[in-house]
Amino acid sequence: MLSVPSCRKLSLGSIMDRVHLTLFVVALSIFFRATSTAGQSGAPIAVRIACGSETESHAPESGYLWLRDMNYTGGSSGNLTTVSRIASQLDTVRYFELSDGNENCYNVSVPNGQYLIRFYFSYGVKDNSGREPEFDVSLEGTLVYSLTRGWSTAVDYEYADSTVRILDGAATICFHSSGHGNPVVASIEILQIHDSAYNLGASSPSNVILKTVKRVSAGAEKSGYGVSLHADPWSGDRYWATDQTLFTARSDISLLNTSNNITKYSDPPNTYPQAIYQSATTTGPSNKLSYTIPVVPNQNYSVWLHFAEIDPSITGPNMRVFNVLANGQPLFEVVDIVKIAGAPFTALVLNKTVFVERKSFELTFEPLTGEIAVNAFEVFQLITREQPTATDNVWALQSMKHSLSLPARLGWNGDPCVPQVHAWDGVNCEFDGAFGTWFISGVDLNVQGLGGQLGDDLLGLQRLQTLNFSKNYLTGPIPESLGKISSLTTLDLSYNQLNGSIPPSLAQLSKLQELLLNDNQLSGEVPPALGALPIRGATLNLTNNDGLCGVGLQSCESVNGSRWTTFFLLVLGFLILVLGGYLCYKRRMNMLRGAQRLPRDAPYAKARTTFVRDVQMARSVLANHFSRPAPSCTETAPLNPH
Ligand SMILES: *[C@@H]1O[C@H](CO)[C@@H](O)[C@H](O)[C@H]1NC(C)=O
Ligand SMILES: *[C@@H]1O[C@H](CO)[C@@H](O)[C@H](O)[C@H]1NC(C)=O
Ligand SMILES: *[C@@H]1O[C@H](CO)[C@@H](O)[C@H](O)[C@H]1NC(C)=O
Ligand SMILES: *[C@@H]1O[C@H](CO)[C@@H](O)[C@H](O)[C@H]1NC(C)=O
Ligand SMILES: *[C@@H]1O[C@H](CO)[C@@H](O)[C@H](O)[C@H]1NC(C)=O
Ligand SMILES: *[C@@H]1O[C@H](CO)[C@@H](O)[C@H](O)[C@H]1NC(C)=O
Ligand SMILES: *[C@@H]1O[C@H](CO)[C@@H](O)[C@H](O)[C@H]1NC(C)=O
Ligand SMILES: *[C@@H]1O[C@H](CO)[C@@H](O)[C@H](O)[C@H]1NC(C)=O
Repeated sequence: MLSVPSCRKLSLGSIMDRVHLTLFVVALSIFFRATSTAGQSGAPIAVRIACGSETESHAPESGYLWLRDMNYTGGSSGNLTTVSRIASQLDTVRYFELSDGNENCYNVSVPNGQYLIRFYFSYGVKDNSGREPEFDVSLEGTLVYSLTRGWSTAVDYEYADSTVRILDGAATICFHSSGHGNPVVASIEILQIHDSAYNLGASSPSNVILKTVKRVSAGAEKSGYGVSLHADPWSGDRYWATDQTLFTARSDISLLNTSNNITKYSDPPNTYPQAIYQSATTTGPSNKLSYTIPVVPNQNYSVWLHFAEIDPSITGPNMRVFNVLANGQPLFEVVDIVKIAGAPFTALVLNKTVFVERKSFELTFEPLTGEIAVNAFEVFQLITREQPTATDNVWALQSMKHSLSLPARLGWNGDPCVPQVHAWDGVNCEFDGAFGTWFISGVDLNVQGLGGQLGDDLLGLQRLQTLNFSKNYLTGPIPESLGKISSLTTLDLSYNQLNGSIPPSLAQLSKLQELLLNDNQLSGEVPPALGALPIRGATLNLTNNDGLCGVGLQSCESVNGSRWTTFFLLVLGFLILVLGGYLCYKRRMNMLRGAQRLPRDAPYAKARTTFVRDVQMARSVLANHFSRPAPSCTETAPLNPH
C-alpha cells in the first residue's frame, strides 16, 4: 500500500525535492535501461521535452525540468511568436517539413507502464509562415489526434493529453503530414501514472487509449495543473479546466467552496487533487445542470464523475438525489452522494462508458431531491489501439532503410503499417487476425535512387509477396537468402547494377510468377531450374545481362567457346608481339652499332631517324593490314635472315 502524504503539507521545497527525485529516477532509468517495470511507489517517471530547444530549463512556476529537444527522427527547430498560455517558458517548436518525410517520430525510452502523454501545440512564422498547419499525431502506432482547421483557435485544443499503456519500453509519438503545412509541436510530456489507474472494469476493452476530451473542475475559480493543486505526483499532473467558461451567464448557477478536508480523495491507483472536491457548481432548486461537449460522433466515451458533499447543510442521505443523463439517456440513476460515499466530505468516483452517435455529448444532471452540485468530471474518448507490425518485419525494413540509404523524404519512421491511414510509402501491409499483427506483403521502391547492396535483412519479411526495386542503383550480388522467402510471387530487380551470378536458391520460390532481373550486370550460368518458370506460365526476363548464359539466353557452351577463342587469340597476339618486338630490338641493336660512327649531333639524328622510321613502320603496318599480307617488321628485319 502506498502511503499518500497529505498534499496540504507540501511546501514548494518538498515539491522541488520531488521534482529532483523524479529527475534522478529518469536519469537512473536512462543509465540502467530499466529492466523491470517501475514500482508503483517512489517517484513516477516524468520526461518533459521542450521541443526545438537546445537547452534544459527549469520552469519558474512549477520547478519542472524541461529537457532539451531529443530523440526525434528529423525536422528543424523554430521560434514561437506567441507566448504559450500553458507554460510561458516554452518558446521554441520542432517542425517537420515534407523533405524530412511525411512521418516523423519521437522515440523516448521509458519503463513499461501507464502514462499520461501531453502535448502543447503551437506554430510560428518560420515553421509555417504564420499559417495554421493541419496534421495527425499518433501514439504507439494509433492515430489519436487530427489537428484540423481551426484547432489553434478552439479553446483547450492546443493543449492535449491521453492516457496510454506502454508495452515496448519506449513511447513512440509520431507526427504525420496531411499536406497542409508542417506538423509542429512545442512540448511533449510523458508522465507516469499508476498501472491500474482508470480501470474501466471488466466489461470495457483493455486495449484502448483514453484521449481526454474534457477534464473539468466544476466551481473552480481558475484552471490549474496537478502541481498547482498539490496533487499526488502519481496523478500525472493533469490539467483541470474550470467550468466557468463553459456556461453562458445564468443566474441560477453558483459556486460552492470549502476548505474542509475531504476523505478518500486520493486512493491509489486513482489519485486526484483534493482541490477538485473542494469546489462545486450548483444550481437553484429543481434546475438541471448541463454541459455540452463537442465530440467525434460514433465513438465510445468513458465518463468519470467526481463528487463530495461539501455543503454543510447536507448532513445525511436522501437530502441531495439526482440522475445523470448522457445525451438524454440515463447514465447513473438516483445518485445520493452521501449515501454511496458513506459520509459528507468524502470523495466518490463513478465511471461508465457510453457510445455517442452525435457530434456533441450532453452531460445532464437532473435533480430528484434538493439541488444539483457537481464537483468534477472527465470525459475520455476510447480509441482502440491499432495492432503493431510484427517486430521482425519492422527490423527488416529499418535495416533495409539504412543499408539502401533510403531518402529522408520517404519517411519510414515509427511503425510501417500503423496508423493504417499513414502506412509507410512503398510498403504494403496485410493483417493476420490469428497473430493479431500486421505483416509486410509488398515492398515497392522502384525509381527511388536507391544505392547499396541487398542484404539478408530481407529474410525478416517472411510474408513478402512482391518486391520491386526496379530502376535504382543497387550493386553487388542478389542475396542467396531471397530464395527462402517462400511467399514471393513477384521479384523485380530490373534496371540496377547487380552483378555476380543468379543464386540457384531462387528456383525454390514455388509461387514466383514474375522474375525480372533484366538490365543488370549479372553473369554466369542461369540456374537451369529457373527454366521451369516460363513453362509454368511465369514471366522470366533476364535480358541485357552481358555475362549471363543458359535458360532462354545464349548457350553457355557458345559463351565458353567464344571465351576460349578470345583467350586463344589474345595469347597468339601477345606471342606475335613479343616475337616481333624481339626481332625489332635485334635490328635496332644492329643499327645502333652502325650509328656509333655518326657525327656529334647523332643522338638527335638518331632520335629523329627512329621517329621517322616508327611513323613509316606504322604506315606500313596499316598499309599491310589493308593491302599486302607481309608484316612490316618482317620486311625491315626478315624472319629468315640469310
Ligand atoms: C530564435 O530566437 C533566438 C533569439 O531569440 C535566435 O538566436 C535564434 O536564432 C532563433 N531561432 C530560429 C530558428 O529562428
Ligand atoms: C535518446 O536516444 C539516445 C540514443 O540516441 C538514447 O541513448 C537515450 O536513452 C534516449 N533517451 C530517452 C529518454 O529515450
Ligand atoms: C469503473 O466502473 C467499473 C464498472 O462499470 C468498475 O468495475 C471499475 O472498478 C470502476 N473503476 C473505478 C476506478 O472506479
Ligand atoms: C486537514 O488535514 C490536515 C492533516 O492531514 C490538518 O492538519 C488540517 O488541519 C485539516 N484541515 C481542516 C480544515 O480540517
Ligand atoms: C464501442 O464499444 C463497444 C462495446 O465494447 C464495441 O463493440 C464497439 O466496437 C465500440 N465502438 C467503437 C467505435 O470503438
Ligand atoms: C525506440 O527506442 C528504443 C530504445 O531506445 C529502441 O529499442 C527502438 O527500436 C526504438 N524504436 C524505433 C521505432 O526507433
Ligand atoms: C516495378 O515498378 C516499375 C516502375 O518503375 C513498373 O514498371 C514495373 O511494372 C513494376 N514491376 C512489377 C513486377 O510490377
Ligand atoms: C560486383 O561489383 C563490385 C563493385 O560494385 C565488385 O567489387 C565485385 O567484385 C563485383 N562482383 C563480381 C562477381 O563481379
